[in-house]
Amino acid sequence: MAESTRRDFLYIATATMGAVGAAATVWPFINQMNPDASVLALASTEVDLTPITEGQIVTVKWRGKPVFISHRTKKEIDEARAVKPGELPDPQPDEARVKKGREQWLVLVGVCTHLGCVPLGHQGDYDGWFCPCHGSHYDSSGRIRKGPAPTNLAVPPYEFVSDSKIQIG
Ligand code: FES
Repeated sequence: MAESTRRDFLYIATATMGAVGAAATVWPFINQMNPDASVLALASTEVDLTPITEGQIVTVKWRGKPVFISHRTKKEIDEARAVKPGELPDPQPDEARVKKGREQWLVLVGVCTHLGCVPLGHQGDYDGWFCPCHGSHYDSSGRIRKGPAPTNLAVPPYEFVSDSKIQIG
């Protein structure tokens, strides 16, 4: 388990640092690995979405947790909306998990709802995330589709402060 967690972190760090233009987003993640608890409690995080290209997922840190920001493709949005919510383990329409008119942006707390591992993006059977710890598959809306996780990946409180910037928290 410890090994999986370490591997996940390395994967994410590599993936985000490899992303062109995402360096500014990545460094706060690295620098804030051990922030003071009082800072964590208050923190909100602003994220510039401009460098995140279509099809890309980046990870930022918010209140000590990873947050995934996925710039979804049309295919990913269509797949998420083709599913009847009633058929899902944790029924929720995709529309309820994104902001109206900004369906391409999906923001998720990157913590598996089973036992807290960090799922891997663009993996699993549903074009979303896969948690390697015990095999939970999340779809392109971050909803649990298969495996032991009981609920969907959480959507944190966030707002668009401009067309290209969000504030989380
Ligand atoms: S922690 Fe993710 S499947 Fe168990």
